[in-house]
Formats: sequence, C-alpha cells, structure tokens
Amino acid sequence: MGKLNYTVQPGGSLCGRLRAPGDKSISHRAVMLGSLADGLTRIQGFLEGADCLATVDAFRGLGVTIEGPEQGHLIVHGVGMKGLREPATALDMGNSGTGMRLLTGLLAGQNFSSTLIGDESLSRRPMRRIIEPLTRMGASISATEQGTAPLAIHGGQPLTGIEYAMPVASAQVKSCLLLAGLYARGTTRISEPAPTRDHTERLLTGFGYALERRDNHIVLNGGGHLHSCDIDIPADISSAAFFLVGASIAPDSDLLLEHVGINPTRTGIITLLKQMGANIIMSNERLSGGEPVADLRVRSAPLHGIRIPESLVPLAIDEFPAIFIAAAYAEGETVLSGAEELRLKESDRIQVMADGLQALGGVAQATPDGIVIQGGSLQGGAIDSHSDHRIAMAFALAALRAEGAIQIADCANVGTSFPRFVETARQAGLAVEARD
Ligand code: S3P
Repeated sequence: MGKLNYTVQPGGSLCGRLRAPGDKSISHRAVMLGSLADGLTRIQGFLEGADCLATVDAFRGLGVTIEGPEQGHLIVHGVGMKGLREPATALDMGNSGTGMRLLTGLLAGQNFSSTLIGDESLSRRPMRRIIEPLTRMGASISATEQGTAPLAIHGGQPLTGIEYAMPVASAQVKSCLLLAGLYARGTTRISEPAPTRDHTERLLTGFGYALERRDNHIVLNGGGHLHSCDIDIPADISSAAFFLVGASIAPDSDLLLEHVGINPTRTGIITLLKQMGANIIMSNERLSGGEPVADLRVRSAPLHGIRIPESLVPLAIDEFPAIFIAAAYAEGETVLSGAEELRLKESDRIQVMADGLQALGGVAQATPDGIVIQGGSLQGGAIDSHSDHRIAMAFALAALRAEGAIQIADCANVGTSFPRFVETARQAGLAVEARD
C-alpha cells in the first residue's frame, strides 16, 4: 500500500454546516448485535470506515448475510444467538481494537474455533486485559507470548458468569465481557473504576436484552435472546471533535456540526474545551435510537490552558490528540495526567503528539501518564502520524492557526474512522490536500 500524505496550507477559518460520519463505536456494536438477533436489523448512519467494514466482513465470514452498506444503510439478517458458523479463514480486524476485543468475547462463547488477526498496529496492542477475565469465565484463547494478536479462540468451552472488577476503565473490556456473558451460564457482574462509554448497554436494552445497571455495576444473565430493531446512528463526536477544536482556534470561524452523538460518556471533549474558554452551543437536543444527539455550533474563541481533571479522561479518551492542539494554541499551560492508556491506542498518542508538537516548534513534554503543553504558536513543518488516524486529523486542523504549511506523513488510516475527511474538511475551509 502506498503511503498517503497530507499537505495543509496555513490559515483559513471553518464555516457552514457539516455532518461528521457515523459513530464508530455504535456502528461496530450495531452489526454485532444485529447479527445475533432474530430477524432483520436495519441500520442507518452506519460508519463506512475501514474499521467497521472489517467488522461487517468478519460477520459475513461467520455466515451472516449483510446487505450494504449503501450511503450509511445496512441490513443485517440476524441468525440468532446460536446461528453463527465456523469461518473458513482467519477474521481480519484490520486496525480496530474495538472490533477485535468485542468479537473475542462473542466468539469465546461459540461452539466452533476461530482466529482473529489485525494489522501491524493492532498486532502490538494488549489483549491480556480481555484474555484473563475471559479465561476465568472458562474460555480458551491463545495469543503471542507478548499477549498480542493473532488470537486463536478455541470453541466449545462452556462459559460461566463471573464477577469482575475491571482494573482499567475500558469500554472495550467491559463490552467484551458483556458479549461473552450473553453465552455464559448464570450471572456476569462487571464493575468499572470510572464510567466509560455505555453504547453496548444501551444497544442491548434496545435489542430487548434485560440488564441491570447500578452505580458502577453492570449485571446480566446469560441465555437470553436479542430481538432485531432499527438503529439510527448519530454522527461521531470523536470525529466532530477535530472540527470543534479547528473552529475554536481559527479566527472568524462559525460552524454547525449536525446530529452529533452527545452520550454523557462521550462528551468530555465539550466539557474540556468549554473549560478552556471555547464557545460551543448545543441546540436541538433529542433522542435518536436510545442515544442523545444535538447540533453543536462552535465559534472562534480565545482559549486558555487548564489542568485536565482525571475524572474526564475516560470521557474524552479518543479526543486527546485534538485537545493537545487546542492546548498548543491556548494561553498558558495545559497539564494532563492519569492518561497512560493513551500510550496503548493506535499509536502511543502521548509520545507521537509530543514529538509532533515539538517538530512544529511547540513546547510539549511527555510524562509517563500524560503531557505538559505550554500554549503559544506553532510554525509549519513535517510530522509523522505513525499511521494513527486521529494524530493525522489533529495535526491537519492545527494548520488553521500555524505560521507555515504542515506536512503529515502516513495518513491512509484516516479512512478507518473518517472516510471523505479531506473533502469534508476542505468544504468547511481547511486547505488540505492528500497525495500518494
Ligand atoms: C472504544 C473504547 C475505547 C476507545 C476506542 C473505542 C469502544 O477504548 O478508545 O476508540 O468502542 O468501546 P478502550 O476501551 O480501550 O479505552
């Protein structure tokens, strides 16, 4: 695969209205639960990015008929809880941690064996965090010595519900165990150290599966059924985030982001930007398929640095590359701590962002669990995204206030979460060009 690079000319403002692509987390889960349901599940607003398409392909490999996607529409012919079939080949989850971790939980409960593989980045990411509790449930999973993919899931192991206190706040681990719990005998009881995105819980409820949520506990009993339903997926706040930051830092911006998911387990970005002085107004709040959505109007505003409350870290976990760009242009210092998980994402987002900011003349110091950024200005220059979609998009928007052009290497993976990013961003006012 040739490497795709971006060149972004400095300056400009973001104006007009745009709808960011569908929510990645919900798109994965909609396909998974739709596949296990009885009957047809019709999905609209599906994210046609490489990550979610890998999940669609995986379920086709497991014998599920899926029509589409066509302009965000997908029809999943659910096969029921026991209807999946042994795949003929390894299932390739590409770049997607969500795809791999959730599917592992689901496959652990099947009576056939399967293998999950991923790209270079995914093959470096830690899987013991799911293998350990799944093994306690009775699953049999082999990984590399480092605890990474490929994962071989040995089927036909009866699962039993466990009580599990998650050591890290991770929606992927939580969701993995809930999906395994559907196939377990008895009760699965999970507690999380801090609230994380709850799309699995909401969707399970939408598919008619009873679960109990109290304080930081989620409890479900195995052996139930999922009933198909229609799902309207909101725009991904994690993709909208780049434009929230871009329009905040670029003078004379006035941008309306439409139909954005504002699930309270995802809105850390709005809280943090507002604490920094951003001008973001929410309107037209409504519920769409069990998830709250709203339109977000964002206008330029002078930002100032903040100490990021650790309690907000899981609620903004994917938005830190964008937040660091806001911090780089804010007045004063921004300090993040308690965010070591950022080092385990598609890239080491603490180091890669610190290196990128420094390459552009910014002042940023990585720490073991966070970063300290002195706000000011950024010059132009060349940075490497390390194949990480969110690093690439964050630095692309940084050009709006930079003093020179920014060249960003290795941007093909933007397509994992934001197909048509370049077109969308250009339309809003960013002078970005992609070149092979
Ligand atoms: C996700 C959970 C988060 C997030 C990822 C999507 C999900 O990962 O970073 O992009 O859909 O459950 P962790 O659970 O590892 O924090």
